[in-house]
Amino acid sequence: MTPSPSAPGSRLASRLGLSDRTFVGPQAKRLLIQVEAGLDLVEEGLARDLRVTDALADSASRYLYEAGGKRVRPMLTLLAAQLGDGNTEAVIDAAKALEMTHLGSLYHDDVMDGADRRRGVPSAHAVWGNNVAILTGDLLFSRASQLMAQRGDRAIRLQADTFERLVLGQMHETVGAQPGDDPIDFYIGVLADKTGSLIAAAAQAGIIFSNAPEEYEAPLSRYGEKVGVAFQLVDDVIDLSPNPDDTGKVPGTDLRAGVPTMPYLLLSQREDAAARALRDAIDKGVTLIAEGADPEILDTELEQLRHDDATARTLALAREWSADAVAAIDGLPRGPVRDALTRFADAISDRSG
Ligand code: IPE
Ligand code: IPE
Ligand code: MG
Ligand code: MG
Repeated sequence: MTPSPSAPGSRLASRLGLSDRTFVGPQAKRLLIQVEAGLDLVEEGLARDLRVTDALADSASRYLYEAGGKRVRPMLTLLAAQLGDGNTEAVIDAAKALEMTHLGSLYHDDVMDGADRRRGVPSAHAVWGNNVAILTGDLLFSRASQLMAQRGDRAIRLQADTFERLVLGQMHETVGAQPGDDPIDFYIGVLADKTGSLIAAAAQAGIIFSNAPEEYEAPLSRYGEKVGVAFQLVDDVIDLSPNPDDTGKVPGTDLRAGVPTMPYLLLSQREDAAARALRDAIDKGVTLIAEGADPEILDTELEQLRHDDATARTLALAREWSADAVAAIDGLPRGPVRDALTRFADAISDRSG
């Protein structure tokens, strides 16, 4: 991302959903400037560390990085690190490694989801085919491990444990709920594993690698996991958004592919005639699309689901997860870091695109 000429700290403030008016005071300003400086280091570092001598691997591995991304995970690592020694080299390496892990997971995820667009550009498999996309993801995971390996056992273990959980989340999503599983609980478990795990690790890494007090690790990890679930629930609502420019993705990708997102699951729980009719129409459309029909046949149902109570309830649920995230850090000392984390958790469930 190109550096912006705006005032120091304000870029981050807007990314955190904070306006200058709501987040004032010299301490808060100092925090934002520190975190923003850390983000610049992460950005420069990634641009360097994603280089590969092989020409194809080089273009493919930098492709989605250069396409954009919000850098939510490094932002959380850096924020948490301000509870310790700040932007240490180890903190920057961990932030880069976790963002690379996220990046690699996007290459694989788009293959698995058959998603044609990512970060506003054609997804990697749409450009190079599945094999190159999968191998590029693998390459990014190797690079992430190399970075963590420089930081010792604790870093390697964090990386390995987090990655295992992320993979199992994707696996459970793929296999789906089994007889006896509550579909909503199962789905929340998938979100916590596939997304919460990495965001939790990002927040926890900020504590570990800045030498902050060890007792902050568990609260930050719980906070990150809950923020991750809230984030994914909002993502389910964004999937129903009519405006593809907001999201960089094709609207309704999940719904049309038959991915049981939270609005669909909540709709399926209802037994009234309107809910049943909408669910049956979605199921029928999904079957036809799987058989080769034009995905646009579900446009009307997509619109109906967007305005259904199930979508409003998904957003309400996201707000509850954000509130739980905030509760997880209520033992942290009062101050600008806790304030920023609180506002960040709230902003997650208020984002619409
Ligand atoms: C997208 O994550 C994939 C999920 C885990 C939901 P982000 O929304 O953080 O993606 P970028 O990094 O901003 O593209
Ligand atoms: C992505 O989840 C999770 C990982 C990459 C581990 P989704 O498939 O729900 O996210 P988007 O909508 O493609 O970003
Ligand atoms: Mg996906
Ligand atoms: Mg997916």
